[in-house]
Amino acid sequence: MTDMQSLYRDHVAIVEARYASALAEAGFDAVIVHSGTPKKRTEFDDQFFPLRPTPEFHLWAPLMEPDCFVVFETGKQTVLVWPENTSFWERPAPPEATYFTTALDVRRVEAPEIPSKKRVAWIGEDVARAGKLGIEGDHVNPPKLVAALDRGRVRKTPYEIQCLAEANRIAALGHRAVLAAFEGGGRSELELHLAFLQATRQDDQETPYKNIVATGRNGAVLHHVSYGRDETRAASLLLDAGATYMGYCSDITRTWVKAKAGTGGSAGGTFAGIVTAFEAMQQRLVAKVAVGMPYEALHDESHRQVSAILKEAGLARGSIEEIDQKGVSRAFFPHGLGHSLGLVTHDVGCASVKPRPDNPFLRNTEVIAEGQVFTIEPGLYFIDGLLAALRDEPEGKMVDWNLVEALAPFGGIRIEDDVLVLDRGVRNFTREVLPTGGAAV
Ligand code: GLY
Ligand code: MN
Ligand code: MN
Repeated sequence: MTDMQSLYRDHVAIVEARYASALAEAGFDAVIVHSGTPKKRTEFDDQFFPLRPTPEFHLWAPLMEPDCFVVFETGKQTVLVWPENTSFWERPAPPEATYFTTALDVRRVEAPEIPSKKRVAWIGEDVARAGKLGIEGDHVNPPKLVAALDRGRVRKTPYEIQCLAEANRIAALGHRAVLAAFEGGGRSELELHLAFLQATRQDDQETPYKNIVATGRNGAVLHHVSYGRDETRAASLLLDAGATYMGYCSDITRTWVKAKAGTGGSAGGTFAGIVTAFEAMQQRLVAKVAVGMPYEALHDESHRQVSAILKEAGLARGSIEEIDQKGVSRAFFPHGLGHSLGLVTHDVGCASVKPRPDNPFLRNTEVIAEGQVFTIEPGLYFIDGLLAALRDEPEGKMVDWNLVEALAPFGGIRIEDDVLVLDRGVRNFTREVLPTGGAAV
């Protein structure tokens, strides 16, 4: 791996420049970024959730500890306040790397010094803590500053690119292990989930989001995380699972089916054929990514492509334009094509404008630009509620309901890659480590 320490130092210099211009734009001299305060699982209990640091804090340092602070003041060296642990109940996990100590002024003290006679902003969730430090009112998470900092996170630095590639590499270990376990048979969804964690050597709380491990009909639940405990006999698996590295996330979905594509008119063979077509279609979408194109146009294109697959498979009748324009594809593919990716799975900075009303769940509405990282994740599902509503509409006549019923036990398909936009085309982090997106196995 390229020397992460020097990449990190360059990253800090880039982030400092972005902070200086964000502060100038929002009218502040300095900003305190808080790592966070542990949250109680419920107010009626004395247990706390493990800390997820404020992403804006994580941008500076891969530290998972509460009550740390970054103090940034334009023109001064950035300070990291990192208190010594004094608790005899617990000890924080050691940082994944310590190179941040070489680029920041690290102080092992309890609280930051607040620059005096300056306009100081606070970024962090714990508003009471800000108040105790004397920062109140409209200096706490000021929207103009938050928006400027969010924009700064869109174009990834070379350090971040390395972290995102590594997060993909780690997740690929889990995807391979789960596929092997699924093929071997005899496992429950819970066991497949645990196989992922074991292979990636990441605990549940470290993964970017809770693994979605959905066999059979559960594939139609977009965020299926209530894992079955019994051995699954389902022939299909939708695994949406990622890993983190230095706080950066991967978000990868693969769909597998135990059937041979096109075999003897069986439902399994038909579904496997659709998975194969879907895999090729997802790769065509990735190939269309181009600087200057609105992401929403690519989302619209994905609906035309899904409509073509619905027609080709015999699930929908009519022209591709009708299947797309009459909302039929939306009943099978209700979510957005993708979202920006970084320190959080659904990262900031690419949704400053709302999508069109017919794309309500689209999380990326930005014009595609070099340095952005986002997912490309078309889907096709058999979701009872959405399909029942479609059946009651005149457009319901366009659907072959017998075929829907035959394929519903396979749940659905989603194929998701993480890509970096280059001046021409993309670097596909996911395919570098997991060449196949979905197939019959
Ligand atoms: N894993 C959540 C998503 O794909 O957006
Ligand atoms: Mn995603
Ligand atoms: Mn995902």
